[in-house]
Amino acid sequence: MRSDANIAGPMADPVPGPRTESFGEDVSRETPPPMDDTPIGRAAQLAVEALGRAGEGLPRPEQTRIIVVANQKGGVGKTTTTVNLAASLALHGGRVLVVDLDPQGNASTALGIDHHAEVPSIYDVLVDSRPLAEVVQPVPDVEGLFCAPATIDLAGAEIELVSLVARESRLQRAIQAYEQPLDYVLIDCPPSLGLLTVNALVAGAEVLIPIQCEYYALEGLGQLLRNVDLVRGHLNPTLHVSTILLTMYDGRTRLASQVAEEVRTHFGEEVLRTSIPRSVRISEAPSYGQTVLTYDPGSSGALSYFEAAREIALRGVGIRYDATHAHSGAQNNPSMVEGIQ
Ligand SMILES: Nc1ncnc2c1ncn2[C@@H]1O[C@H](COP(=O)(O)OP(=O)(O)OP(=O)(O)O)[C@@H](O)[C@H]1O
Ligand SMILES: [Mg+2]
Repeated sequence: MRSDANIAGPMADPVPGPRTESFGEDVSRETPPPMDDTPIGRAAQLAVEALGRAGEGLPRPEQTRIIVVANQKGGVGKTTTTVNLAASLALHGGRVLVVDLDPQGNASTALGIDHHAEVPSIYDVLVDSRPLAEVVQPVPDVEGLFCAPATIDLAGAEIELVSLVARESRLQRAIQAYEQPLDYVLIDCPPSLGLLTVNALVAGAEVLIPIQCEYYALEGLGQLLRNVDLVRGHLNPTLHVSTILLTMYDGRTRLASQVAEEVRTHFGEEVLRTSIPRSVRISEAPSYGQTVLTYDPGSSGALSYFEAAREIALRGVGIRYDATHAHSGAQNNPSMVEGIQ
C-alpha cells in the first residue's frame, strides 16, 4: 500500500531553529489551524497577507502552461506539490485546473472535491470521451481553482485504454477541447510510468519532478527521463523537464543537503531555488480537505509553496528569479531561497 496523504506520521517539525521565527510574530508556524466555522476564503486571504503581498498578482503566462507533476517513485510529494502550487497560483490571481490522474484520488481529497464512485471523473474523459468541462468542479473557497477529480474507476483505465484508439493522446485531446480560459493546468500523476502517465506526458509541455531529499532520491529517475525523451521523440516534440523541486527538505540533516547538492549538480538550472521544508502542517492539511495555503497560511510550508509558485510564474515569462524578489520570510531563510546552505 502506498503512502496515505491523510496520515501525518512521525514527521519532523518544519525548518527548525530561528528560521521559523523570521516569518514574523503573527505568522509563526504555531498559527492555529482555522476553526471549523472560519471560512476558508478568509484563511486564503490571510495567506496572501502573510506574504505582505495582498492583491499583488503574479505575471500570467501568455498561453496556458500545462505542467505534468511526475515521478514514478511513490510518496515523494507529487500530490502535495500539485495541489499547493495550484492553490498558490490561483491565490495570486491565476485560473488553474488540477487534473487528478491517480486512482488514489489524493489530489481530489486534498482539494475537498467529492470523488466517490458515482461522480463524473477523469476516467469518463479518458475512457468514454466525455468532455472535460462535464467533470471539472470548482474548488470550494479558492477562486480560480478547479479540479477534474479521479475516482477508483481510474484503476482499471490503464488496462481499458490499451485497446482504445489514440490511447496515448486522449487527455491531450480533452484538454485541447476544453474551452474555459486557463493559465495553468497541473496534472498529478500516479507513481508509475504506465498509460496514465504517458497520457499526461503527451498532454503537457513541461514536466515538474518533485524529488524528496532522501537517500535513493535519484534512483529510478533515469527511467522517467528516458520516457520523457521517448514521448518527445514520438508523440510530443514540445515536452521537456522544466522544473525540479526539492521536497521534504530537513535542514537539520546532512543527508538532505547532500542530496540537494547532488540534484543541483545533476540538473542545474531546472532546480528551483526554493525548496520545500518538511512540515507537519503540510502533511496535516489534506485530512481537512485543504491545501496548506488555506489550512495554515503563515506556516513555513505555505510560504515555501508560495515562493516556489512565484519562481515558476516568473520563469514562465522569462524573468530570472532573484532572492531580492522573495518575501521577507524567505529572504531570511536561506534554506527556502537557496535550497541548500
Ligand atoms: N513537505 C512535506 N512535509 C511533510 N510531509 C509531507 C511533505 N510533502 C508531502 N508530505 C507527506 O508525505 C506523504 C507523501 O506525499 P504525497 O502524497 O504528496 O506524495 P506522492 O508522490 O503524491 O505519493 P504517491 O506516489 O503515493 O502518489 C503524504 O503523507 C504527505 O502528506
Ligand atoms: Mg500522489
